[in-house]
Formats: sequence, structure tokens, C-alpha cells
Amino acid sequence: MGKKVTDKVTWVGKVDWELQRFHGDEYSTDRGSSYNSYLIRDRKTALIDTVWQPYDEEFVENLRKEIDPKEIDYIIVNHGEVDHSGALAALMREIPDTPIYCTANGVKSLKGHYHRDWNFVTVRTGDTLDLGECKLVFVEAPMLHWPDSMFCYMTEENILFSNDGFGQHYASEFLFNDTVDQAELYAEALKYFANILTPFSGFVIKKINEILDLGLPVDMICPSHGVIWRDDPLQIVRKYLEWADGYKENQITLVYDTMWDGTRKMAEAIAEGIRLADPYVKVKLFNASKTDKNDILTEIFKSKTVLFGSPTINNGLLYSVSGILEMCRGLKFKGKKAAAFGCYGWSGESVRLITKALGECKFDIINDGIRASWVPDSTAIEACIEFGKEIANA
Ligand code: FEO
Repeated sequence: MGKKVTDKVTWVGKVDWELQRFHGDEYSTDRGSSYNSYLIRDRKTALIDTVWQPYDEEFVENLRKEIDPKEIDYIIVNHGEVDHSGALAALMREIPDTPIYCTANGVKSLKGHYHRDWNFVTVRTGDTLDLGECKLVFVEAPMLHWPDSMFCYMTEENILFSNDGFGQHYASEFLFNDTVDQAELYAEALKYFANILTPFSGFVIKKINEILDLGLPVDMICPSHGVIWRDDPLQIVRKYLEWADGYKENQITLVYDTMWDGTRKMAEAIAEGIRLADPYVKVKLFNASKTDKNDILTEIFKSKTVLFGSPTINNGLLYSVSGILEMCRGLKFKGKKAAAFGCYGWSGESVRLITKALGECKFDIINDGIRASWVPDSTAIEACIEFGKEIANA
């Protein structure tokens, strides 16, 4: 059954408590997620977004409990990715001629996914759709986070439907931000930003300022994942502006993997050196093969400096470290310092390879890194402690 958002708006989405992985294996969703779809009943009726395809029939059945689908006048697709458009094909079997409002790139995405020539109506920023007492105002939001992404704003009710923007992969039976655990909510909102939106930070700032400059009152922000921001809805907008602007805390993070504990011993000695030089900095260590990769990336997002460590194997790196570096390359973190460490038995390329990768990730490289041969002895450990002090003072 649907859940009441306002007198005119009903949530008709799906809470997915089982979801553990999203985008293939790219994103861990330890707290599940939701696919939020909104039904607006004014003199005209509009449906904003649908749900992921595995729940398509369930979605249509539940929607039928709210409304005869034939009474839906307009469908709004704010974003064509299948977690939001996945039930469209099942719905369109019932109402094949209903117009679908989306961006021009939205048409490309929907045709690319479903190979159907539905009744598309393309919209641009500033276009409106009259629902009776309220209007929907469309706002293109390219690269937040796909080229087809769009927000829409409902006048009179002052609701911003922001699709992926301001979302969280966070399953809850509660609908609003003031009704859930705040620490959980912010942990998921931050993880979502760090792992999905970081590369588009410039677009985030520009789009938010563009919307704020319109001076529209915002009483609610309804994203397509997680809970609705009802209590001080602009709190998440302020957070986004902070997170998008080279966010960092006083934190240094060490990410490493180890074969026979040599590189782990180096990591711990470097951490000791950092603490000796700066007792106030947070120092965190993560074994990349044992810690969730998205949690590591969230910690990197929060850090001012990141150190990556791997022993040399087959003239290269342990793949868990390579994987995190590859994800950092794509996420384009800004304004973070970095350096490499690692031990070796024979050829010893790992530190050079990590340093090269750090350059490709656009980290500010502090130095050439530190290597230790075989299992680090007391001299090597002392060198790591000194290296840690240098990092803390960098
Ligand atoms: Fe870009 Fe929630 O999909």
C-alpha cells in the first residue's frame, strides 16, 4: 500500500530490505535501499518514477490498490537508470499511450534500455506541467549523476523531487528524515555522496546554487532512494555544498593489503609516527582485503591524507589495493595528499607503481614513498615511524 506524503502526494515505491549490492558489485548496500515512486493526485494525476525491475509486477499491483492505472495522466521519468525505470515496461503494458515526460537524454536512455517507442515528451529546464492547483517545474540536472538526470519541483506543495540527488541507500519502514536514526541516516547519506556523487562535485555546487537562486520555497525534498527530507529539508543541501567543496576532516587513512604481515607492520609503524607527530589527527587503518571497499572509500573521502600500501607480487600489487586505487581514479577525489609504502622480497616495484597510480588519481603526492625489504627489522620500523612523522607534518 502507498504511504501518505501530503494530501496530494502518495509514496508508492518499494523498500528493498534484501539489497546488499548495487550497480553489480560496485556499491555495498548494507542497510538495503528503497526505490521511491510518487503518485500526485491533483485535477490531473502524475506518477514520478517507478521501481527496480525485479519488483515490477508487485509495483503495478500495489499501484492498482491506490489508483486505476488508466487514471494516470502523466508519467515523469527523472532518470532512466533501471532502479527507477525498471517497472516502466510492466506499467506501459497497461497504459501504452500515456505520455512520459523526461529529458532528451532520458529518451535515449529509455529507448536504449527498453527498445520501445513510447509517447515521450521531452522537457527542458523551466518547462512546466499543469496538474490543476499545482504545477510541476522541470529542472535538468545533467551529471547528477547521469546525463539524463532531472529534478522536478511541485508548486504550492513546495516539494523538490530530486531523484538520486540527496538520496541514501537506506531501507526503512519510516518515510521521513526526522523519524529515523540520525547517525544511520547521515552515515548512509555521506557514503552515497562519497561513492556516487564525488566525481560530479562541481555540477552539484552549480546546480544547487542555480536552484537556490530561483528563491523557491522548499518544504520537502523527495529523493528516489531512502527517506524524505521533511524536517529542515535544506540541511542536506547545506551538507552537499560542504561535501562537494573538497571536503576533508583532520584524518589520515592508511589502506593496505599484506601477504605475510610485513606491509601491515609498516602500516602500524607509520601510524605510530603520525600519532607521535600529531596527537590530534585521527588515524585509521584498513586492510583492503578485509574491509568493505565502499566503507574504505568513504573514509578516504573524509581524509586529508591517504597512504596506500602493498607488497610486491608478480612485479605488481595485491589486487585489493589495485581495486581501491582504480575506484579512486574514477571518483576523482580533490585536494587530498597521498603517498605509498610496501615491503618486498625480490623485485620491489609496488611503491613505484602505487605512486604512479596516485598521480593518475590526481592525489597530491607527498614523496616517493617508503619500501622495506623482507619482513621489516627494527631499523626499517624506525624508518617507518620517521616516515609517519613526515606525513603528519606534510
Ligand atoms: Fe542512478 Fe538510483 O540510479
